[in-house]
Amino acid sequence: MALTVSSSPTSAKGIAPLRAGQGHSFLLRRLHSLTGIIPVGLFLIEHFFSNAFATRGPGAYAKQVEFLSSFPFVVGLELFGIWLPILYHSLYGFYIWYQGESNVAEYPWAGNWMYSSQRWTGAIAFFYMGWHTWHLRFSGTHVLSYPDLAFGKVQHELVVTWAFLFYVVGIVCASWHFAYGLWLFAAKWGITQGPVARRRWGYVCAAIAVLFIATGFVTLYSFRSTPRQPYRPTAGEADSYTMR
Ligand code: HEM
Ligand code: HEM
Repeated sequence: MALTVSSSPTSAKGIAPLRAGQGHSFLLRRLHSLTGIIPVGLFLIEHFFSNAFATRGPGAYAKQVEFLSSFPFVVGLELFGIWLPILYHSLYGFYIWYQGESNVAEYPWAGNWMYSSQRWTGAIAFFYMGWHTWHLRFSGTHVLSYPDLAFGKVQHELVVTWAFLFYVVGIVCASWHFAYGLWLFAAKWGITQGPVARRRWGYVCAAIAVLFIATGFVTLYSFRSTPRQPYRPTAGEADSYTMR
């Protein structure tokens, strides 16, 4: 069963291929790679697109949140479509990182700048998502139950300078990690074979990174430049921002 996705075991440009014959770890490794695209990558696309409705004003943003909240089994979709896949991809990502460093021979591209960037952007995105999800999903007013308050809730967060800067960092890291992840995925699964295809796909992925970062920044600008919308922070939320 030759599931190795490139012609040589170490593959061109030193990308560690997905190898057959490593039992469970091979399957877990493939699942990690796949979850980066489905469903986590798809969620990221949807999330950036939905948030970009902020550029059309608080009314349009509320409508989009209302649309998302109209899906049946929302909590089940969140659990199985977002939280658990992100948790798996993240924890196995940290494990791959640890393995790569402890066994550099297995990772011919370890030490490469792009290799490190993929790990560090993943780690930063992990902490950003934990903080961001806690604040916007699990504390304060539940925006899916009160879509009209969603715009004001995000604004309430973004007026705090360090929180705003953390958003900037989170957007850049997630965009970079996903775009370079698309490049890695194509190399590892044999979609791009040979240096020419990989170079061309590299340009497309760079454009995807720029598109995501620009979309995220324009969205942030919309929240910051629109007059403050109604929001009722809970006592806990008011306390959580003492470091302005
Ligand atoms: C302009 C920037 C962003 C805005 C305005 C924003 C807004 C929101 C809002 C309002 C929620 C709560 C939705 C709910 O209650 O279900 C949320 C959840 C979430 N966001 Fe963001 N977000 C932004 C950037 C990001 C980035 C860069 C990431 C990834 C690194 C991210 C990952 C998540 C995740 C994982 C959730 C939890 C999803 C859920 O529970 O359904 N967000 N975001
Ligand atoms: C915003 C959410 C995320 C998305 C959309 C995402 C997406 C991706 C994609 C598409 C890949 C390429 C798959 C492959 O290597 O074949 C990847 C790789 C990777 N991801 Fe993520 N990821 C996310 C969050 C994370 C987090 C939080 C970590 C935690 C450290 C992480 C760690 C990694 C690692 C280490 C790799 C590279 C594996 C390798 O080079 O062999 N990712 N990610």
